[in-house]
Amino acid sequence: MKKEWWKEAVVYQIYPRSFNDSNGDGIGDLPGIREKVDYLDYLGIDLVWLNPVYDSPNTDNGYDVRNYRKIMDEFGDMEDWKDLLDDLHDRGIRLIMDFVPNHTSDAHRWFQKSRKSKDSSYRDYYFWREGDEKEPLNNWDSIFGGSVWEWDKEAREYYLHLFSRKQPDLNWDNPDVRSEIYEIMNWWMDKGIDGFRLDVVNFISKHPDLPDEHNKGPYGARGTKYYVDGPNIHDYFQEMNKEVFADRDAVAIGETPLVSEEAGSKYVDPSRNELDMIFQFDHVTFDMKEGGSWLPQRDWQLTELKEIFTRWRKVTSNTGGWNATYLSNHDQPRMVSRFGDDQDFRRESAQVLATLLMTISGTPFIYQGEELGMTNYPFTDISELRDVQTINKFNEMKKQGKINNFDEVKSEIRLWSRDNARTPMQWTSGENAGFTDGEPWINVNPNKSEINVGAEKKDEDSVLQFYRKLIDLRKEHKVLIYGDYKPILEEDEEIFGFLREENNEATLTMLNFSSENKKLSLPSGISVDGVDLLLSNYPLEGTEFSEETTFRPYEARLYKLE
Ligand code: NOJ
Repeated sequence: MKKEWWKEAVVYQIYPRSFNDSNGDGIGDLPGIREKVDYLDYLGIDLVWLNPVYDSPNTDNGYDVRNYRKIMDEFGDMEDWKDLLDDLHDRGIRLIMDFVPNHTSDAHRWFQKSRKSKDSSYRDYYFWREGDEKEPLNNWDSIFGGSVWEWDKEAREYYLHLFSRKQPDLNWDNPDVRSEIYEIMNWWMDKGIDGFRLDVVNFISKHPDLPDEHNKGPYGARGTKYYVDGPNIHDYFQEMNKEVFADRDAVAIGETPLVSEEAGSKYVDPSRNELDMIFQFDHVTFDMKEGGSWLPQRDWQLTELKEIFTRWRKVTSNTGGWNATYLSNHDQPRMVSRFGDDQDFRRESAQVLATLLMTISGTPFIYQGEELGMTNYPFTDISELRDVQTINKFNEMKKQGKINNFDEVKSEIRLWSRDNARTPMQWTSGENAGFTDGEPWINVNPNKSEINVGAEKKDEDSVLQFYRKLIDLRKEHKVLIYGDYKPILEEDEEIFGFLREENNEATLTMLNFSSENKKLSLPSGISVDGVDLLLSNYPLEGTEFSEETTFRPYEARLYKLE
């Protein structure tokens, strides 16, 4: 396996709006992040991924870009951004920007011009289609609700938007669009960044006929078949690689919802020069019922989760490729509420998940607050929600008569809404969790009195201290980075166990995903004489090295094998 800095990095994702507010307007900002660079250093991370900070009307919190070369006013200006980059680099922390290539804001100059006239040279930057005002051109559903087609009164035509109607899709089949995008990416690269996270990048190539689709996909949306991993996708990635990444030591990370195994293995095949790693979605979508994120989650079994992790490791390693590993981000519920037990075993289960993230193969991505074991939010009314996806879906369901009030979807929203992950970072137990001196743009989780950086720093056994230890261990034992991944106990419904092996080194990760004690013999071939416990989240009891040992509820152990 070829050595690369981005394989060895531990990534920390910052959602700037919710990280730290320096000027009291209730919205996190770039100077606010600068105030916390010491914290990032203390945690031990190597790379920051910054969610979009470009000028935007904020229909989708920055994923609707109005100007790719300007910083959003609420976040500061280009000088603040440059200062942040310098502060990070001074501490040896790299920075990647979030780039949004699939769509712009409808307030973007290109869209404004394109809407004006059929003869505009920008017309073909987007998907404009003639049609009957009453009937959309095909049956595709927008991921944020409704049809993907919006009738534009000014243009008297439809335009396509896979996300909100304020996010028109760019037409990547137009070479001018591609060269503009590469130019912008290079403009940022020249400022000294270390790479990009590429938003829904496997959606950029659409089937030329935009045909109807009759089956609903995992988000409850029709149409995905005709734009996920679309017809020209590999050509576009190779072109982007050549135009932007080829002569730089920068990383290209694709966000690839619904990616197929076949396409995914090609995206990360180093010999094809496409992307360096991808975020696949199977482990966050596998237990959704048909109809998408809002219908009750079905019960799931640990073997299903293990199978997904193992499968994707095979898919990528078949071509010598690499994984981006994550358990939460700004679009997903809080990890401990999603996969752990945020009530009785919050600390322990967050530590189990942290151990999974940091010791399974791939580059680990930590989402802000995850390192504290932050949880979902107890929403009680729609007025507390800010996320366009949640609000659109709620309004749509109401309009269709599927629900009458918030209470009917309260438990789903508490489980799934993206706003669960977007409540402010909890720095202190004080007012607004130390996030802002003003009125926060979204409520602070009431559990900030127990869960906050101040408390976690003081407590030796906290989730935060556990992350720090894991990060150190990863740096010390390169087998955790480059070692082969070998699952064990694959049929077990409580224990997630695997080996990492390279040359003469090996580690064993054993994670109890249940709230019960679990008695277990060491897997065959592993001798008690040759194990060394590197880390565990419970006090030692003496049985840790016996042939038969009991794993306590949500116990995590990392062994080194001789
Ligand atoms: C994926 C981003 O992570 C999400 O936050 C955004 O809403 C969509 N892409 C659309 O840009």
